[in-house]
Order: sequence, then C-alpha cells, then structure tokens
Amino acid sequence: MKTFAASGLALAATLVLAACGGPTPAEPGVVRATIASALPEGRIEEGERKANAKGDATGQSCIDCHGADGNNPLDPSYPKLGGQYRDYLAQSLQAYRSGERDHALMSNQARGLDDQQIADLAAYFASRPAQVRDLHGVHSIN
Ligand code: HEC
Repeated sequence: MKTFAASGLALAATLVLAACGGPTPAEPGVVRATIASALPEGRIEEGERKANAKGDATGQSCIDCHGADGNNPLDPSYPKLGGQYRDYLAQSLQAYRSGERDHALMSNQARGLDDQQIADLAAYFASRPAQVRDLHGVHSIN
C-alpha cells in the first residue's frame, strides 16, 4: 500500500508540474552563451602550436605540465587531457578564464586565452589518443 501511495504521490506531482508548465526541458539547439558550443570552430594544428608555446604570463606551455599529447602530466594529480571531450575541455578553460573554476596553477594559464585559442586547444587535445584513468592511488585518504 505504501508503495502504491508513494507512486500515486509521484504521479500527482508530475501532473501538477505538467499543469503549471513545470521545469521546461532544454530546447534542442538552444544554448547558453557561456557554453562551449558558442565558440568558433577549433583548429587542431593551431591548437597544437598553442599547446607547445610558452605563455607570456607564466613562461610555461600546456605541454610543460600536461605532457606530450596532454597524456604525460608532470605530476600524477594533474589531469590527462588527451581524448577528453572537446566541449568538456573548452568548458573547463572558459571556467578557469572567468574565475568560476579556480586553481592556483591552472587559472593563470587560461586567463589570457581568447575564444578562438580555447576552441583550438580543445580541438587539439580532444584529437589526441585517450588514456582514461581515475585518481585511484593518487590521493591518500586518511
Ligand atoms: C603549471 C602547470 C600547468 C600548466 C602550464 C597548464 N596546466 Fe592545465 N591544469 C593543471 C592542473 C594542476 C590542473 C588541475 C586543476 C584543478 O584541479 O582544477 C589543470 C587542469 C586543466 C584542465 C581541466 C581538466 C579536467 O579534467 O577537468 C584543462 C582543460 C587544462 N588544464 C588545460 C590546459 C591548457 C590548454 C593549458 C595551456 C594553455 C594548460 N592546461 C596549462 C596544470 C597546468
């Protein structure tokens, strides 16, 4: 009976939401301006050049920390970038640039990038071979 009552409630809630308009499902093709799909087309070769170039602000390149193909990080706690979703990479870089995502080492790397450079870097690292791994064994939990 309890289960029945609960599902009855859930149904009632769904009907109320539907009647009020409820949460509007995302409309296909409609994106917020801050998300990666609003970026210009990424160019892999330009991204590769940029990934290897020393940044003015820090004197470091992406490859210096994330390694060749973004897959050989300087420190095991640094993320691998190779084969990651293009939109995820671009979104992360936009978030570091805006300050929404903050990290002592990474934020400075993204601050000077323009939209085209973010799109190029995302296209480049997404095009590299993926080496998926988790952080198992990287951080000790006490
Ligand atoms: C000084 C070392 C360093 C340099 C140089 C550097 N990064 Fe990073 N990067 C990091 C670290 C550390 C993190 C993880 C930060 C965190 O936890 O938010 C990171 C995170 C990222 C992420 C998020 C990945 C994820 O899985 O969420 C992206 C994308 C990224 N870096 C791209 C770049 C690009 C592109 C460049 C060159 C413009 C670059 N990085 C230069 C150290 C660096």
